[in-house]
Amino acid sequence: MAEAPLVVVADPIDREAVDRLRAGPCRVADVSRDPGKLGGELAHAWGLVVRSRTKVTAELLAQAPALQLIARAGVGVDNVDMRAASARGVRVVNAPAAATQSVAELTITNYLLLVRGLFPAIVATKGGTWERGTHGHELAGRTVGFVGYGRIAREVARRLRPFGVTTVAFDPFVPSSSDGTAIVPLADLLARSDIVSLHAALTPDNQHLLNASAFAAMKRGAFLVNVARGALVDEAALLAALDSDQLGGAALDVFEVEPPMNAKLLAHPRVIATPHLGASTEEAQRRAGGDTVDEVLRALRGEPLTALVAAPAGGAR
Ligand code: MLT
Repeated sequence: MAEAPLVVVADPIDREAVDRLRAGPCRVADVSRDPGKLGGELAHAWGLVVRSRTKVTAELLAQAPALQLIARAGVGVDNVDMRAASARGVRVVNAPAAATQSVAELTITNYLLLVRGLFPAIVATKGGTWERGTHGHELAGRTVGFVGYGRIAREVARRLRPFGVTTVAFDPFVPSSSDGTAIVPLADLLARSDIVSLHAALTPDNQHLLNASAFAAMKRGAFLVNVARGALVDEAALLAALDSDQLGGAALDVFEVEPPMNAKLLAHPRVIATPHLGASTEEAQRRAGGDTVDEVLRALRGEPLTALVAAPAGGAR
């Protein structure tokens, strides 16, 4: 009798989801706590489950001649060489909706922290300085510009309605919208927005989309929020825009290189930095593991897939 297909879990995902996979019509090699064993398991792998630590490069794919499915327990597939996977006929699935709520909540938290100037106030107060002068602004009446208008940005826009905020968006894949957000060219968005909020998937075409000329086109004193991918932003240009006061501040959950190397940017008094934890809530990780394993089980049973990612990857998150 033929052996059941081998599914290799390369990165840590929800434990209950892995247990459910073990109960499925497959063998499971969980090397998430011992990545050194990945190479040995790949030789016989039918399926590969990753989060973002494992980079699924053409070289890695070459070590997995029997691979049929890559399952990404999260939204972004920029850690998967989609062209190489497609050329090999390896299907790629993700968990597109798992983190929407968590990332939307972090995004709005950052808007409030930035506009109100709370981060420097927190640091000063904890450092023993009691300064109660007029400080920051209200979010009400501001304009938020979404770069990328997919699931997460739409959820942020929906949750912003009670705040009395105007929303505009730029997305080459979204020609119009009927939810109250005006779809505008990028130049208009940059000129109008008090907060520019990044929600685009990273593709070969949009690296450093926010560069020196984009920052120069923004309103003086506007804010940048990036909870999407670090390489959408030219960090050297961002630092210069902060130093010249062209930008009022930035909240960054993602960086060009992670962990980040740019000490000056991290230390900047008007930069809020978090360690790529937009999707790292208990709830989002439970959903990401569960949705991913559901999709792997569907593939093993030969059922239609619900979260197949087209190659090459593009669009908003
Ligand atoms: C995602 O793309 O899902 C997030 O960036 C978080 C993760 O790396 O899993």
